[in-house]
Amino acid sequence: MSKYLVEDTRKISVQRLKEMKANGEKISMLTAYDYGTAKIVDEAGIDVILVGDSASNVMAGNATTLPITVEEMIYHARSVVRGTKRALVVCDMPFGSYQVCPADSVRNAIHMVQASGCDALKLEGGVEIIESVKKIIDAGIPVVGHLGLTPQSIHKFGGYGVRAKEKAEADKLLTDAVALEEIGCAALVLEKIPANLSQEVCRRLSIPVIGIGAGPADGQVLVIDDMLGKNKGFHPKFLRQYADLYSIMTDAIGSYITDVKSGAFPNEDERY
Ligand code: KIV
Repeated sequence: MSKYLVEDTRKISVQRLKEMKANGEKISMLTAYDYGTAKIVDEAGIDVILVGDSASNVMAGNATTLPITVEEMIYHARSVVRGTKRALVVCDMPFGSYQVCPADSVRNAIHMVQASGCDALKLEGGVEIIESVKKIIDAGIPVVGHLGLTPQSIHKFGGYGVRAKEKAEADKLLTDAVALEEIGCAALVLEKIPANLSQEVCRRLSIPVIGIGAGPADGQVLVIDDMLGKNKGFHPKFLRQYADLYSIMTDAIGSYITDVKSGAFPNEDERY
């Protein structure tokens, strides 16, 4: 029997996220990319699991999120869905799957939901992708927006620095956020923007705003490998590291190697 760290084990819906914002209850969100991790994260009581296209970096070792494909995202999302009972599972639409035209976007969105069983999709961008967002929502699929630092546009930005520090970009972000709410988005992720801008967006929107490197918001999201300290040497200012899995894992693996080399493993009790 799973033991949730939260009392309410009802499946989280996008409607529930909106109620949480209305009630001032903060939303917790973490990434996961595989069955085993999703099961732990879900049983710990997280509200939302994001199958992020950061899988491209974290799981596949790519330098950017650009190479990951629809089929690879489906593989990760399907594994996460199998490990999840309570959390809302949101899957990123990868680069190239929603930028061409609305018809193409909705076809890819339906395929991703059908093949993975995820509850919602996340798309990066504002007014320039609004027709695609509308078509996907019209098809009955909840959409989470993503503004600020949008890693699929990394070559346009030229780096992973803080976005929307200048007025023109901040104004565009506000316009985009309002447009995404008006078109029917269920929630919005804001990545790496000044905290005062993120708070302004939280005030203006009635849908939940989830921040990463964006200061206080209606909820927070982190990449699980980063917050568990698996990714040695990655310490951006916004990241709070809750464990040192790199040390825990290398210590354990080191002990195993020592035991194998010395013949201490397996012992009398560990054989048939
Ligand atoms: O892909 C991802 O992990 C994300 C989060 C950083 C929000 O989009």
